[in-house]
Amino acid sequence: MQTPAPSPPKRPYVMGIETSCDETAVAIVSADRQILAHVLISQIDEHADFGGVVPEIAARSHVDILPLLTEQALEEAGLGPKDLDAIAATTGPGLMGGLMVGMVFAKSFALAANKPFIAVNHLEGHALTARLTGEAEFPFLLLLVSGGHCQLLDVAGVGKYTRLSSTIDDAVGEAFDKTAKLLGLDYPGGPAVEAAAVNGRENRFQLPRPLLGKPGLDFSFSGLKTAVRRVAEDCVAKRGALHADDVADICAGFQQAVGDCLIDRTEQALKAFMIRHDSERPTLVVAGGVAANRYLTARLRALAAEHNAALEAPPMALCTDNGAMIAWAGLERLIINPAIDDQAAQARPRWPLDETAAALYGSGKKGAKA
Ligand code: KG4
Ligand code: ZN
Repeated sequence: MQTPAPSPPKRPYVMGIETSCDETAVAIVSADRQILAHVLISQIDEHADFGGVVPEIAARSHVDILPLLTEQALEEAGLGPKDLDAIAATTGPGLMGGLMVGMVFAKSFALAANKPFIAVNHLEGHALTARLTGEAEFPFLLLLVSGGHCQLLDVAGVGKYTRLSSTIDDAVGEAFDKTAKLLGLDYPGGPAVEAAAVNGRENRFQLPRPLLGKPGLDFSFSGLKTAVRRVAEDCVAKRGALHADDVADICAGFQQAVGDCLIDRTEQALKAFMIRHDSERPTLVVAGGVAANRYLTARLRALAAEHNAALEAPPMALCTDNGAMIAWAGLERLIINPAIDDQAAQARPRWPLDETAAALYGSGKKGAKA
C-alpha cells in the first residue's frame, strides 16, 4: 500500500528578517507553525573586543550578509520569492543602522516579488513566539526579559498590550552582560554567567534584591550590579586576584538574586492577572534572550505550578533574537489584516509595545541589548 504524500505546509508563508542588533537572521514560517527555514549569523566575534555591540560595525555586517542569508533561507524552504505571501522585517526598536538595512532590503524584496511588506515590532516578535512554539492562547501574562527590556505585560491579542511594569534602571540582560564584563567573562554575558554559576555557591556573598516585596511591579537591577562590583573588589583586595571560585560564587549569588526579583514581581502580577481575567488556569509566557536561562525558567516553572498556571517558554534558540519570531509576528498580522502592506513604515529606534503607557525611564532610553 502506498503511503499518502505529506500535505504541504499551510499557507500563508511569511519570511521574517531580523537586523535590530547583532544577529542577522532570516526565517520562513507557515500558518500551521512550521519553521520552513531558519538561518542566522551572530556577529558576536566582531564585537567581542569592544565588550558590547558597535552600531556601525553591526549595520555594515548586516549589509554584507543579508542577501546571502535570504538566498539560503529560500533554498532551505525549497521556495522562490513568488511562493511567499509576505515579507516581514523588524522596524524597531533597536539600533537605527541595522533597522534601516533590514527594512530597506525587505521592502525592496517585497516590491520586486510583488508581495506585501509587514513592519514588525521586535518586542512583538518575542511576545508572540510562544504561539509559534506552543499553545499560548490570549490573554496571557508576559514576562519579557532581554538585553534591552524587563517588563511585565498583559497580552490580550495581537497588538493589544498593556504594560504592567518595567525596569526603573537596567534591563535584566544588561545586568547579566555588565556582571560578566566586570568578572572578565565573555560577551554576551548571560550564557557565560549561567555557565559559571553552575559550580558556584549561592550564599557565599550577601547580594541585595532591589524592590523585593515592595508595592508595585517594577524591576530594578542597578543596585545589584553595584553590589557585585563591591564584592568582586573585596575578593581582589583579600586574595590579590579574582579566582575561578570567586567568579563562580558571585555568578551563582547574582543569578539567585535576579531569580528572587523576577519571581517576586511575576507572582504579584500573576495573582492580579488571575483576578482581572477571572482565570483559574492562566498562561504565563516568558520571552526574550534571558528566557534562555535554564535556572530562571526552572524557577518560573515552579512558580507557575504553584499557581496552577501554564508556563510557555520557547526553546532556547527562539528566545534570543532570530528571524522566525519576526516571520511569525508578521504572519499573525497578515491573518488579522489580509490587505496589510506597510511600505510606508519608518524605522523606529524606540517603539514601546504599549503605546499608551508613560514613556520609560531607565532602559527605555536605549536600543536593543543596551
Ligand atoms: O532578546 P535578545 O537576544 O536581544 C535583545 O532583544 O536584547 O537578548 C539578549 C540578552 C543579552 O543581554 C544576553 O546576555 C541575554 O539575553 N541572555 C541570557 C542568556 N542567554 C542570553 N541571560 C541570561 N542567561 C542566559 N542563558
Ligand atoms: Zn530581542
